[in-house]
Amino acid sequence: ASAELRRAESLIRSIPDHPKPGVLFRDITPLLADAAALRATAEALVAPFAGRFDAVAGVEARGFLLAGAAAIASGAGLIPVRKAGKLPRPAAAEDYALEYGTATVEAHDDLPGGTRVLLLDDVLATGGTLVASRRLLERLGYEVAGVSVLFEIDGLGGRETIGDPALHTVFRS
Ligand code: PRP
Ligand code: MG
Repeated sequence: ASAELRRAESLIRSIPDHPKPGVLFRDITPLLADAAALRATAEALVAPFAGRFDAVAGVEARGFLLAGAAAIASGAGLIPVRKAGKLPRPAAAEDYALEYGTATVEAHDDLPGGTRVLLLDDVLATGGTLVASRRLLERLGYEVAGVSVLFEIDGLGGRETIGDPALHTVFRS
């Protein structure tokens, strides 16, 4: 990895027992605050997929922080994958399981069917969020060109759950 990327990795802050005991929270705000680290990170998220996508989809909320930067860095459009009830005219919705209860992601269908989309998020844990988001994009007729994540947490089965050879993660625990 480049010196910028190694430095970016060192700017991810690990916070024990947040938001609850036993969880090691990966806080990317120090990385986002650093201009060179933010640029290097946005470029690293899209680099393996260069020329193979037309839009970047980011998952609310933390995925948004990276998706706008990644879209600009790669000359792509931006699709917000939002939590339920935020979009005025969702064209599709997809439920997924949380530890307690369920959540829902929604999106609009403003781009033509067959548009190649790179799906982005900040953290891969169990993979539930990204699997639902990918299904949502496919249901809208988009072609998911790949899934790219800033930080992969090992040992929670996320990589297996996604089961996609085109899964790229920049950093991992
Ligand atoms: C976090 C994180 C990922 C997701 C990963 O989002 O930003 O999107 O969890 O977990 P998973 O792989 O087990 O699905 P969260 O929904 O907590 O909230 P936020 O992005 O809105 O802060
Ligand atoms: Mg999230």
